[in-house]
Amino acid sequence: MSQISDPNLVLKAANPATQACCGGTVTQTTTPNAITMSNATAEDIHEAVKSRYGRLAETSSSCCGDGGGCNANLYETDINLIPSEVAEFSLGCGDPISIAELRPGEVVVDLGSGGGLDAFLSAQRVGETGRVIGIDMTPAMIERATQARDKQGFKNVEFRLGQIEHMPIEANTADVIISNCVINLAPDKKAVFKDAFRVLKSGGRFAVADIVTEGELTSDERANMDFWSECLTGAIDVNVYLNALREVGFVDAQVTHKAAYSDNNDFTAKIFSARITARKP
Ligand SMILES: C[S@@+](CC[C@H](N)C(=O)[O-])C[C@H]1O[C@@H](n2cnc3c(N)ncnc32)[C@H](O)[C@@H]1O
Repeated sequence: MSQISDPNLVLKAANPATQACCGGTVTQTTTPNAITMSNATAEDIHEAVKSRYGRLAETSSSCCGDGGGCNANLYETDINLIPSEVAEFSLGCGDPISIAELRPGEVVVDLGSGGGLDAFLSAQRVGETGRVIGIDMTPAMIERATQARDKQGFKNVEFRLGQIEHMPIEANTADVIISNCVINLAPDKKAVFKDAFRVLKSGGRFAVADIVTEGELTSDERANMDFWSECLTGAIDVNVYLNALREVGFVDAQVTHKAAYSDNNDFTAKIFSARITARKP
C-alpha cells in the first residue's frame, strides 16, 4: 500500500474555517482529531472519503441551505430541466458539461457520479442513441443516483459501483470522460488517468472540473483527512496534473479555465477550481 505522507507527521495548528466544495464548511480544531492520519495509506483515504460521501448521500436532501455551498450555481449549462432534488444535490466544483461538447449518440463515463446530476445532464445531450455510465465507490451514492434515475425514467443511464482507479468498464468504451470535483480525492491520480485512457476510445475526450493547486501542499496539510475529503488537500499542482495526463498518453492536455477556490489563505499553496481537457490520440 502506498504511503502518502511522512510517518512522523504532526498536524499543523489550526486553519480556522474553510469553505469547501463537496457540500460543507469544515472547522478545524487546533489538535489532531480521530480522522487525522499521520501516515495515511491509499486505503485510509478511500475509507475517509467514502465515509463522508456515504453520510452526505444518506442525510442530505439538498446541498443548498444545509451549511454547504449551493454548487448548482456553478453551472453555465441550463440545469432547469433536472428536478431540483437532484440539481440541488450538486457536490461539484464546476461545470464539466459546458466543456464536454457532448453530441447525440456518444458514450459518456462520469467519474465519481455522486447524486447523478452530471450523468443526467449528459444523458439529455447524448439522447436515446447514446448512453452514460456513472462510476462511484460509495454504495449510498450509487443507490441514491439509481433511485433518481428510475424516478425520472432515464433509460440511457446506469450507475456502477467501483473505484475510478480501476473502473468496471471495458477498454475503448467511452467517447467522453467527464468528472466534477473527484480526481482530487483519489490518492493515486496517475492510476485514474491511466484507466481513463484505457476506457476512452481512440479520439476520445477527457473533460473535467477539478481542484488543483499552484505549488504543492505540505505532507502535514495532506495528512488531514477532513480537508482531503472536502476536496482541498488531495489536490496537486496543476502542472504536475497536466504532465501526469501526458505521461499516460493524453495529448492537448490543458487548463481552459481556472478560478480561486478556497478562501482559506493558510494553506501553503493556492487552491483553484479548474476545467481541464485532454484527448486520447
Ligand atoms: C465531491 S463529490 C462529487 C459528486 C458529483 N460529481 C457532483 O458533482 O455532485 C465526490 C464523489 O466522488 C466519489 N469518489 C471519490 N473518490 C472516488 C474514487 N477513488 N473512486 C470512485 N468514486 C470516488 C465519492 O463517493 C463522491 O460521490
